[in-house]
Amino acid sequence: MVGLDIGSKTIKIVEVEKSGDSASLVASGIVGYSGASPEKMGEEKEMTSLGQIIRKLHAEAGISSKEVVISIPEPQVFTRTITFPMLTDAEIASAVKWESEQYIPIPINEAVIQHTILQRNENANPPEVLVLLVAAPKVVVEKYVRVTQLAGLTPIVVETELIALTRSLAPPDKTILLIDFGASSTNIAISKNGLLSFSRSIPIAGDAFTRAVSQGLGVTPQQAEEYKKTYGFTATQLEGKVKGVLDPVLRLVVDEIKKAVSYYLSEEKGETPSAIVTSGGTSGMPEMVTMLTQLAGMEVVVGNPFAKVKMDSETAGKLAPYAPLYCVATGLALRE
Ligand SMILES: Nc1ncnc2c1ncn2[C@@H]1O[C@H](COP(=O)(O)OP(=O)(O)OP(=O)(O)O)[C@@H](O)[C@H]1O
Ligand SMILES: [Mg+2]
Repeated sequence: MVGLDIGSKTIKIVEVEKSGDSASLVASGIVGYSGASPEKMGEEKEMTSLGQIIRKLHAEAGISSKEVVISIPEPQVFTRTITFPMLTDAEIASAVKWESEQYIPIPINEAVIQHTILQRNENANPPEVLVLLVAAPKVVVEKYVRVTQLAGLTPIVVETELIALTRSLAPPDKTILLIDFGASSTNIAISKNGLLSFSRSIPIAGDAFTRAVSQGLGVTPQQAEEYKKTYGFTATQLEGKVKGVLDPVLRLVVDEIKKAVSYYLSEEKGETPSAIVTSGGTSGMPEMVTMLTQLAGMEVVVGNPFAKVKMDSETAGKLAPYAPLYCVATGLALRE
């Protein structure tokens, strides 16, 4: 299976071959991208040029299949957990169909809606079924599908980024926080026993860190990007100036993460996550793990999407530094 993650700054592609319970890497590739994201595109011309970039990435990475699983960005997705009485799977499917109007903020005939049964609590009083509802505007899904087709590829499944991330990173036996620190958004998921049970997206991520450095230090965005990647939260570099402007931005992000966890605990009666697992390019910022551990007061682990994927040691060595970027694409490629 091939996973294609069209991010706002980089596009990643991963091909994985499954045999029985094990998966091995066939090919992978990343390319930077500076245009608008598909959901902001009006004209076919823009979509065609992004399609060309993906077509080239697919060819140069040496991907063999043209059938791909794609993701739509989390900020475009609405996710909610709903509690139903003890109904059958078929009854839940029809209840979702008829009742989702009251749960999602987009008109039903303009939305793509999917649901997953998270848990059947036979012992609750009364017995209940927890269902995860995911909805996205049709126009957004159609644009991602169109761009993929313009790349000469066939999108066979469309998923959300956090569902893919849960597949590649979530442990089967714990409740954890999964955080994807991208360029335009930080996506937060809580997974319980390997299933996505809560998600949220906030519009503060890599771009905001770069902007803070650029404005705070009076340097060009290019220079700010360099400083951010080279010094990050290191206190001893440039008299701590870079860290000084990055800190408040990370605090904002961590405050939002804490709010999301409180909401999950109170409204959805979840259990406290035992650790944070990170992904995304921004998670690679120097001293990010130290800072996050301090601010969130939780164990922080850098996610490795290749833990479930076999590859030779030379490839593993080459890919290791890019692992955080591949979490979503690998999750898409690992889909059954
Ligand atoms: N070593 C690094 N240190 C700090 N930031 C980094 C590093 N490497 C990449 N980044 C940042 O990571 C971001 C790109 O990461 P990623 O590819 O995960 O984003 P994306 O998927 O394109 O964005 P989004 O998911 O928000 O649409 C950029 O903001 C880039 O500046
Ligand atoms: Mg991303």
